[in-house]
Amino acid sequence: MSPAEADDICAGLADLHLDALRSGMALGALQSMGRAALERSYRDLVGALDERKRIVVIAEEGRAVLGMAQLVFSGATNSDHRAEVQRVAVATAARSRGIGRQLIAELEAAAHSHAITLLWLTTHDGTDACVFYEAMGYTKLGVMPNFSRRPDGTLWPGAFYFKELPA
Ligand SMILES: CC(C)(COP(=O)(O)OP(=O)(O)OC[C@H]1O[C@@H](n2cnc3c(N)ncnc32)[C@H](O)[C@@H]1OP(=O)(O)O)[C@@H](O)C(=O)NCCC(=O)NCCS
Repeated sequence: MSPAEADDICAGLADLHLDALRSGMALGALQSMGRAALERSYRDLVGALDERKRIVVIAEEGRAVLGMAQLVFSGATNSDHRAEVQRVAVATAARSRGIGRQLIAELEAAAHSHAITLLWLTTHDGTDACVFYEAMGYTKLGVMPNFSRRPDGTLWPGAFYFKELPA
């Protein structure tokens, strides 16, 4: 993408992440972080993109960013078959239209094309995200107490999920 397109996309990703924070899901951040810091973090992330390390799938309608999903490959020499699903989000105004399902399908297709056969993820236990991932065919492994913070800073248990992909 051109630098101007990248600027627009990073702004859209920051807006999307802020929207997710306001709807109660952290995606690795806190609400206190603020929009400017979020946008900087997406500029850093997009600027450092390396297809062997991370893939970012974006859902757009016109030029509006409506959703994202990320795949982060394991850096371990003995685990080149494994990747983590991160930061899956759909704008609140665009939810329940099948965009989340499409994002996961695209991410899994990208994983397959990189010979990934095991996906894993963690999300806050007891949230709608657990219902979503279970509907996407992910198996719940268990729950770790006080794993990470909700957007307001409260420590919360993390639910761990995995899905095996065909080789
Ligand atoms: C979770 C999220 C990505 C789902 O996106 P979406 O585009 O609304 O999901 P879809 O419309 O593709 O729904 C796919 C399936 O997931 C399930 N699902 C999605 N949202 C759900 C909800 N709020 N409650 C219960 N089930 C839900 C349904 O089974 C649905 O299938 P159906 O439409 O056939 O009934 C979206 O709600 C979101 O961005 N939430 C905030 C961020 C977040 O929680 N991210 C994941 C954790 S990191």
